[in-house]
Amino acid sequence: MENLLIRPDAVDFSVIPDVPKGTCVAPLKRPSHLGEDWLEPQQRVYTAEEHGIWDDLFAQQMAVLPGRAASSFMAGLERLDLGRGGVPDFGSLSEELRPITGWSVVPVPMLIPDHVFFYHLANRRFPAGNFIRTRAQFDYISEPDVFHDVFGHVPMLTDPVYADYMQEYGRAGWKALAYNRLKALSALYWYTVEFGLIREADGIKAYGAGILSGPLEAKFSVEGQSPNRIHLEVDRVMRTDYVISDMQPTYFVIGSFEELFRKTVERNFDDLYRGLNPGFTYSNQAVLGGDKVYHLGTQDYANRGGQGSGALPA
Ligand SMILES: [Fe+2]
Repeated sequence: MENLLIRPDAVDFSVIPDVPKGTCVAPLKRPSHLGEDWLEPQQRVYTAEEHGIWDDLFAQQMAVLPGRAASSFMAGLERLDLGRGGVPDFGSLSEELRPITGWSVVPVPMLIPDHVFFYHLANRRFPAGNFIRTRAQFDYISEPDVFHDVFGHVPMLTDPVYADYMQEYGRAGWKALAYNRLKALSALYWYTVEFGLIREADGIKAYGAGILSGPLEAKFSVEGQSPNRIHLEVDRVMRTDYVISDMQPTYFVIGSFEELFRKTVERNFDDLYRGLNPGFTYSNQAVLGGDKVYHLGTQDYANRGGQGSGALPA
């Protein structure tokens, strides 16, 4: 570990990275019809009922997102016309997206291993779940489906700086694999790409897909009294634990996508990873001395036990 130094110019991002021996990645079993890149040969064909689920989810989100979602997200949604009716076709979506930022959307069957995910992001391909939730899973689904992935993530890929950040995130995966610090890098993803907030001229807005693709968290994260809202520092976030299946006790706020991009690209991850523990240092409710705090949360929701207790997100 001492002598390990990863030079980005020495890395070939066009091939799937190796997983070094002893590095923990999710133990996912690749379906037998897929190649190493985990891509489905084509997007699945949806039933009328499934297209209807997309339309109803879309309508539900549009009732809460205006005024709470980042302006880049709302602009992307409109630009890609994601409300044209039914589950979007990835091929036409990619044709519209490619001239804007060079990204495309590719179908995958389920969650894919981290190193394969990094490989696609580093090459400006966004892997999107092929399937759509059922009515019984309408408001929450633990695996990312096509609504979460396409509605939640793809509009942001029309923002040129955000699009570059996503590619940099994928490239950063090579180093996290080499140092066996995937958990730290995934915390950065979690607190930006999934649950990130941004300061705009008329207030704090959400740009994270985990927030934007569900019915409750847009209000909770942006306006709720319970969660902390703290300015994002890369090192601090990479040391912070997070919740997977409930609303976050803390959200991190960026000033702009330029700032996020700069703070990530300029950080020397070799130094950072050498000083990091394998586990997290800070709890997800912690407020630290150096934090720039926009809102000090009551933590009422988390302290009452979150959704398991039936606590209302407030
Ligand atoms: Fe996601």
